[in-house]
Amino acid sequence: MLNTLKSYAVEHKVPIICDQGLEFLLNTIKENHVKSVLEIGTAIGYSALQMESLGCYVDTFERNKDMINLAKKNFKLYDENHRIRLIESDALTYQSDLKTYDLIFIDAAKAQYQKFFDIYEKYLNPGGVIVCDNLAFHHLDINKVNRNTRQLLKKLEMFITYLKNHDQYDTKFYDLGDGMSISRKKII
Ligand SMILES: C[S@@+](CC[C@H](N)C(=O)[O-])C[C@H]1O[C@@H](n2cnc3c(N)ncnc32)[C@H](O)[C@@H]1O
Repeated sequence: MLNTLKSYAVEHKVPIICDQGLEFLLNTIKENHVKSVLEIGTAIGYSALQMESLGCYVDTFERNKDMINLAKKNFKLYDENHRIRLIESDALTYQSDLKTYDLIFIDAAKAQYQKFFDIYEKYLNPGGVIVCDNLAFHHLDINKVNRNTRQLLKKLEMFITYLKNHDQYDTKFYDLGDGMSISRKKII
């Protein structure tokens, strides 16, 4: 049934996690016994529903009105256990409090990854992980893209450097899907 959502995304050009990235994310959830997830970037709810299908409670941010409406419809149809909470807000300006989570999944505006990381890492449970998608951004060649995309690629590069040099997190990078990372808080 979630294949219906995938087909919709392909047909309507909604960017969702690719199969390999999804497999990686779901394996990470299983290996780390993740029970609660904060997702930044819902789109139509595909990845949130996939994580919910493993029994996770998922709070997920979406700011785009059209996406919010589609996600609501999909959650009504497929989230039978009511484990997903859609937060209809820009994650950069959200003010209310949140719970803490075993996993934070960042899959929203690529230029803002560092901000998302800095704002939300405090909501991670001890031993939790932060997963980022799209770090390789479709493996585009920086010399063969327009100015805006080049800026975006530079920002992602800066974010990768930021993660590598972070004094409180250990990050592993995986060249699969669109480029994924897992950051784990260092035990000091
Ligand atoms: C790549 S899509 C998410 C795909 C989804 N995680 C999946 O795999 O099914 C990114 C979504 O993040 C949303 N987004 C981007 N920046 C955001 C922000 N600052 N706050 C909330 N949502 C944001 C976009 O509107 C878009 O729908």
